[in-house]
Amino acid sequence: MALQWYPGHMNKAKNQVQDRLKMVDIVLEIVDARLPFSSRNPVLEQIIDQKKHIIILNKADLADPKLTADWKLNFEQEGTPAVELDAKHNKGLGKINTLIHQELADKIAKYEKNGVKNYRIKAMCIGIPNVGKSTILNRIVGKNVAVTGNKPGVTKNQNWLKTKYDIDLLDTPGILWPKIDDPKVGMKLALSGAIKDKIYAPDDVAIYALNFLETHYLDRLLDVYKLDRADLLNHTTSELLMHLTEKFGYIEDYERASRRIIDDVRKLKVGRITFDIPGEFYEE
Ligand code: G4P
Repeated sequence: MALQWYPGHMNKAKNQVQDRLKMVDIVLEIVDARLPFSSRNPVLEQIIDQKKHIIILNKADLADPKLTADWKLNFEQEGTPAVELDAKHNKGLGKINTLIHQELADKIAKYEKNGVKNYRIKAMCIGIPNVGKSTILNRIVGKNVAVTGNKPGVTKNQNWLKTKYDIDLLDTPGILWPKIDDPKVGMKLALSGAIKDKIYAPDDVAIYALNFLETHYLDRLLDVYKLDRADLLNHTTSELLMHLTEKFGYIEDYERASRRIIDDVRKLKVGRITFDIPGEFYEE
């Protein structure tokens, strides 16, 4: 799968994010809870410097709850507090507010000591496209707001949005592009919907998905496609895709079968899945 990214856009986005970082007390790094590793951009670590920073594992409603808990622990052990969120159904905002206050407690106490009362925290959301930045912004503000500049290379003036907490949020989320050095990261991003469907070959992604399910969620794979263990024995994953194409009645239309498998994963037909496994991910 060949993916084309544009370094010019990436650098521009990076510079915009870097400029805006100076304006805030804390960065809310949004990742997809199904891909807590693959949906991060390592550039952020380089530019974020001493800024307070929390990770929001959004789309927690789609991810494997056990692995979300493992990832939270993993990030905390690395020194960055993390919290899960389901922005779509508005579950978890209160915890984010609490965490932001915990992280900035010293700063707020210092301001209060110096006579500044009711200090309003300044924050910004950062993340790769499609992790839910605009949705979070709308939830946190409590009404639909037009998110400006949510496109690469678009520069707009920034405004502060008043949230329902004592936090002001930049109306322009920082976009960072995923770094796809590892083709598996590309597959996972495609499977999650973060990469546009026309950019990847669906059979590559479906084969990746089947292989991943066979390794990590075998019972669910057998159950959803009514397969026997014997169907998997002595079969390569490509052969399994052919077998499923036939089973679906799609007569050698492997692309259609692949799209169905990808859709099944996205729509939770195989249950809540996390594609990045903590620890194991680095060895894959
Ligand atoms: P972005 O600004 O980071 O690019 O992401 P955006 O908020 O546009 O969200 C991208 C997609 O992810 C949207 O779906 C949005 O509804 C969905 N989404 C955001 N947060 C969550 C969450 O916590 N759980 C789930 N399940 N989905 C979430 P869409 O299909 O593009 O749009 P729509 O169907 O919601 O209209």
